[in-house]
Amino acid sequence: AKGGKILVLPGDHVGPEVVTEALKILDIIEEETGSKFEREFDLCGGCSLDKHKDSVTEAVLKKSTEVDAVFFGSAGGPEWGHSQPNPESGLLRIRHRMQIFANFRPCKFASKALLAYSPIKPEIVGGVDFMFIRENCGGAYYGKKIEEEDYGCDPWEYSRYEIERVARVAGALAMQSDPPAPVWSVDKANVLANSRVWRRIVKEVFDKEFPQVKLQNQLADSLALLLITKPTSFNGVLVSDNTFGDILSDESGGLTGSLGLLPSASLAGPPGPAEIGGTLGRNSVGGVVGLYEPVHGSAPDISGKGLANPVGQVLSLAMMLRYSFNMHREADIVDKAVETVLDTKADGGMEIRTGDLGGKAGTKEMSEALQSTVRKLLRQ
Ligand code: NAD
Ligand code: IPM
Ligand code: MN
Repeated sequence: AKGGKILVLPGDHVGPEVVTEALKILDIIEEETGSKFEREFDLCGGCSLDKHKDSVTEAVLKKSTEVDAVFFGSAGGPEWGHSQPNPESGLLRIRHRMQIFANFRPCKFASKALLAYSPIKPEIVGGVDFMFIRENCGGAYYGKKIEEEDYGCDPWEYSRYEIERVARVAGALAMQSDPPAPVWSVDKANVLANSRVWRRIVKEVFDKEFPQVKLQNQLADSLALLLITKPTSFNGVLVSDNTFGDILSDESGGLTGSLGLLPSASLAGPPGPAEIGGTLGRNSVGGVVGLYEPVHGSAPDISGKGLANPVGQVLSLAMMLRYSFNMHREADIVDKAVETVLDTKADGGMEIRTGDLGGKAGTKEMSEALQSTVRKLLRQ
């Protein structure tokens, strides 16, 4: 039977609100397809600080390495403003323990109705469709930090192993399109030594393992501008280090409308068939070990009011079905349901708008529309 074992970490504020709704969709998928997802719930973030005085416990870190996937909400909030460690550190520690080194952040419109919500003119941003892959376990985020009264240092370093494995993920993803998607490797090789090593090793991996894929180099600063002026010229796959990826993927996410709509996946190996992707990071069901979470944070300003948009969390569920459980039909159906719910009535959609899109619908209304649409599509 399809399915597997997941660890659910709802986190803080709107995290549990949207995770609860997304799991109702997973319930429906189980009912309609006979798949089974064993779910274990635990704490990460402020909720873990309250109970255990730490942002994540060793027991949860250990569990995160024993499941097929982790389904994460969001961590943080003003009530833990001065706590040491902070709630967000729990997520950074899980990323590192799970070695989910490739963070996928898609940039595409969930429905063409959303074109009207982009800050960029429709004729420039219409049709944008790329995957930003951010290295997620190295670079300036980790390594031996120095923090003194008058001096701070975060060594920005990359080794061959770290570069090769994330380059391979980008190549494996590009190979899933027919013809293979182009790949842009993002760096600052005109200045940084670690970028020059990055650029050379990424090219070696592509020359040797993905000769069919067109690889181009793109400087990070000019990418920041081109994402605004010519976003569709990057349709394909972008791959960068941790810091550039953090910043530039927020920028690309902003192109397609609201933060409440954006999903992400962090993977421990290449997606797709093992012949292309290799066996690194595989889970017990032949998918890739991953952690799935929306791009948005815990939204403390709207939590507890039933206002949060569940779409980012629901699209993260679709990514989990696709990459960790090889359930492509169900993943496509969840994406399609989101599109239908957001499409205008003129286009045959339901035109539901939560507050982040200037509408009046709450979490429940959006979630119920998604649930009934998923059920209907699964029965077709
Ligand atoms: P945020 O993403 O939580 O909120 C930014 C704005 O977007 C807010 O106005 C919020 O109401 C709105 N928003 C966010 N998600 C929404 C949704 N689903 N529906 C409707 N509106 C939504 O960012 P922030 O306010 O800067 O951060 C709040 C807390 O979350 C901080 O503690 C931050 O560190 C943390 N955070 C956590 C993660 C994570 O867990 N991965 C990511 C980013 C921020
Ligand atoms: C993200 C967030 C995190 C990061 C923070 C909350 C630690 O900004 O997921 O992009 O910088 O990685
Ligand atoms: Mn970020």
